[in-house]
Amino acid sequence: MALQLGDTVPDFTQNSQLGPINLYDYAGDSWVVLFSHPADYTPVCTTELGEVSRLRSEWEKRNVKTIALSVDSAESHGGWICDINETQNTTVDYPILADEDKKVSDLYGMIHPNSLNNLTVRSVFIIDPSKKLRLQITYPASTGRNFQEILRVIDSLQLTDHHQVATPVNWKDGDDCVVVPSIPTEEARSKFPKGVTEIRPYLRMTPQPNR
Ligand code: BEZ
Repeated sequence: MALQLGDTVPDFTQNSQLGPINLYDYAGDSWVVLFSHPADYTPVCTTELGEVSRLRSEWEKRNVKTIALSVDSAESHGGWICDINETQNTTVDYPILADEDKKVSDLYGMIHPNSLNNLTVRSVFIIDPSKKLRLQITYPASTGRNFQEILRVIDSLQLTDHHQVATPVNWKDGDDCVVVPSIPTEEARSKFPKGVTEIRPYLRMTPQPNR
């Protein structure tokens, strides 16, 4: 059965250009963004993996480790990284899994044969430190991902894990948040000292609690 949000993700050990990577050991107490791309030496993928590398400090700020994956070999990844570094003005230092036997792709459902035969589509999995799946998105091969959106979701997940708020449409770090429906408004007013605006009894906004 396909992985669903809230599931404990399956562990694996797979080769990469940095040697074998065990997911759980590599993750430790960090969040993980595991993402697949269709193939090495392809243009959209080159820009994506370059961007993930350039965003290193943003991942670090959020205690996130990134892991890429395709069904190409570790040798192919190594050669391609030289191209990514040269053309995308960065130094890729995160692992790219060499899933030649499709072990991880099959475990995580990254191959969608009616879209792209035998190659992984652009899957993204956000995994929290307890190894629970918190988000999955699948993009078609022709569309490069927006990794700012992935960072935005991580900001939202990390915020809502610690405060009884949710984040509204187009929310970004620093914007007002939604008070979750389970908290009565009077209780919310004492819980959120920065103030609660009741627009409707079910629609209450509060400034971001951890700012
Ligand atoms: C690309 O990365 O450019 C790409 C890869 C597979 C299919 C289409 C585009």
